[in-house]
Amino acid sequence: MIHSVAVITGASQGIGQATAVRLARDFSAVALVARSRANLEKTAALVRDSGAQALVIDADMSEVSSAQAVVEQTLSAFGRIDALLNIAGAVPQIDLFEMSEEQWNAGLALKLHGARRLTIAAWPALKQAKGSVVLMSGNSAIFPKAPYAAVGTINAAIVALAKSFADRGIEDGVQVNSVLPGPVMTGRRESYLEHWAPLHGMTVAEARANFPKEVKIARYGAPEEIAELMAFLVSPAAKWMTGSALRMDGGEAKCV
Ligand SMILES: NC(=O)c1ccc[n+]([C@@H]2O[C@H](COP(=O)([O-])OP(=O)(O)OC[C@H]3O[C@@H](n4cnc5c(N)ncnc54)[C@H](OP(=O)(O)O)[C@@H]3O)[C@@H](O)[C@H]2O)c1
Repeated sequence: MIHSVAVITGASQGIGQATAVRLARDFSAVALVARSRANLEKTAALVRDSGAQALVIDADMSEVSSAQAVVEQTLSAFGRIDALLNIAGAVPQIDLFEMSEEQWNAGLALKLHGARRLTIAAWPALKQAKGSVVLMSGNSAIFPKAPYAAVGTINAAIVALAKSFADRGIEDGVQVNSVLPGPVMTGRRESYLEHWAPLHGMTVAEARANFPKEVKIARYGAPEEIAELMAFLVSPAAKWMTGSALRMDGGEAKCV
């Protein structure tokens, strides 16, 4: 019987995939959202191995119509939504003075507006279930840098957006938080290092090896470690935590 359902965007790889696999231990069904159906099918197999049902939804979350479609397909398959984890993100890592209007709009369309639209579309079901939402931000929200300005700007906006949803969630019984990971080794971190390496006079291999030392952390995080934080935030144990922005960064942030 389906008694708890989680919807996870960005579930085809990286942190989203690790979160889906982790939540399969706590939820009876998981809806997996991203563009790559082939990769989502791999996540679905891992989710089923852990004992949960899996629904694959291939959708481009930067498109306006996707949010409603994801909610309708999830409700039609499982009848409820208890947790929504907005993890999809692919903000262009380009210098502030080089980024085009199109690149700014693409970054905003997926990570900020995609998460906003899906949270709004899922809200009635979340309200009914007294559910939980997590929005993925990132440490760049507190360390904005000119070579990746859109990343920091959009991550800061996500923290504020989560706080706005949390404000409404107090009266609607929906809990909303944001998460700010530090450097986690995924495909996206690899592409960041490809950008970072020449700016620091290194090859990509040197950058991969030296980056943790440069930002004064012992090592990269693993997607599974962020997945544990996600699982906690949508668990009964965290029910009174709402409107919080949680860093998990190996100590990258040196501020309090
Ligand atoms: N890795 C880090 O160090 C780090 C640090 C801080 C924050 N974050 C944030 O964590 C999130 C996940 O990052 P990651 O490192 O796991 O990256 P990743 O491995 O590149 O995964 C990104 C996910 O987003 C999905 N996605 C991209 N464009 C999409 C679109 N238009 N519609 C639907 N889904 C889309 C991708 O799937 P498809 O390509 O199949 O669509 C993929 O599942 C991102 O929001 C990122 O900003 C990561």
